[in-house]
Amino acid sequence: MTFEGKAVLVTGGSRGIGRATAAAFLAAGARVAVNGRSEASVAQAIEALGNGERLAAAPGDVATAAGCEAAVGAALEALGGLDVLVNSAGVFERRPIAESDEAFWDATMDINVKGTYFCSRAALPALQDSGGCIVNLASIAGLEGYGGVTAYCASKGAIVNLTRAMALELAPAVRVNCVCPGVVDTDMARLGFSEDGAPRTDLDDQAEFHPMKRVATAAEVAAAILYLASPDAGFVTGAALPVNGGVTAGGH
Ligand SMILES: NC(=O)c1ccc[n+]([C@@H]2O[C@H](COP(=O)([O-])OP(=O)(O)OC[C@H]3O[C@@H](n4cnc5c(N)ncnc54)[C@H](O)[C@@H]3O)[C@@H](O)[C@H]2O)c1
Repeated sequence: MTFEGKAVLVTGGSRGIGRATAAAFLAAGARVAVNGRSEASVAQAIEALGNGERLAAAPGDVATAAGCEAAVGAALEALGGLDVLVNSAGVFERRPIAESDEAFWDATMDINVKGTYFCSRAALPALQDSGGCIVNLASIAGLEGYGGVTAYCASKGAIVNLTRAMALELAPAVRVNCVCPGVVDTDMARLGFSEDGAPRTDLDDQAEFHPMKRVATAAEVAAAILYLASPDAGFVTGAALPVNGGVTAGGH
C-alpha cells in the first residue's frame, strides 16, 4: 500500500494510535502533519518519528473550533493540501454518572466529538479539492454500552453516527469512515484502566473479554486506518469497521 506524495493530518498524533498511524503513513511514503495539544508534545513526537522533511507540526487543542482551525491551518500551510484526515485525538475516563459533573461531560464531548466535527469542517475544502477522505476513531464503546463510562460511550456512539451522516453529505467527493477498536495497548488504556492513578503494567484482565484473548497493538489499528484511507477502500464510505478481536461479533 503506497501513499507516496499524499498529505495526511493525524490529530492526536503525538501518542498512541495517532502516533502509530503517523508512523505507518510515513512508512508508506506520505507527508504527515502531526497534531497534539501542545507544541512541545508535537515536537517530541516528530523527533520520535525520526524527524525529516515529510513530517510537519500541526499543534492545536481540538476541544475548540479555533484550535481545530489552527491545527488544520498549520497542516495545510506545511503540506500545501490534504488527502487524508485522521481524527484520533480523544480522551477516556471511567466515571460513574453520579460523579460526573458538567465539566467532565463537556471535556469528553468537546475533545471526542466536537474536535472530530470541527477538524473535519476545517479540512473540508482541501479534501474536496483532492477527492480525499476522513477516518475517525470510534470504539467498541460506540457500538455497545458499557456501564461506568457513559460519557465516553455517548461520545463514541456520536462518532459512529456522525461518520455515517458525514459520509452521506460529502459523497461522492469525500469518503468518511471510522474504526471501532477494542482495548488497545496505549497510555489511554494503561491509565484509563488503572485503579491507583499509576499506569498499568499489564492489561491482562482487559485481554480476557476479547474473543482473541489479547488487546490490540496501536499498529494493528493503524493498519485498518490505512486500509480505509487507501484506494483499496474506494467504494467504502459510512462504514464503522470493528477492529476489536471479535468483541462486537456477538455471542456474549
Ligand atoms: N486505547 C484504546 O483502548 C482505544 C480503544 C478504542 C478507541 N480508542 C480511541 O482512539 C483514539 C486514540 O486513543 P489512544 O489510545 O491513542 O490515546 P492516547 O491517550 O494514547 O493518545 C491520545 C492522543 O490525543 C491527544 N489529545 C487529547 N486531547 C487533545 C486535545 N484537546 N487536542 C489535541 N490533541 C488531544 C493526545 O495528545 C494524544 O496524542 C481516541 O479517540 C480513543 O478514544 C482508543
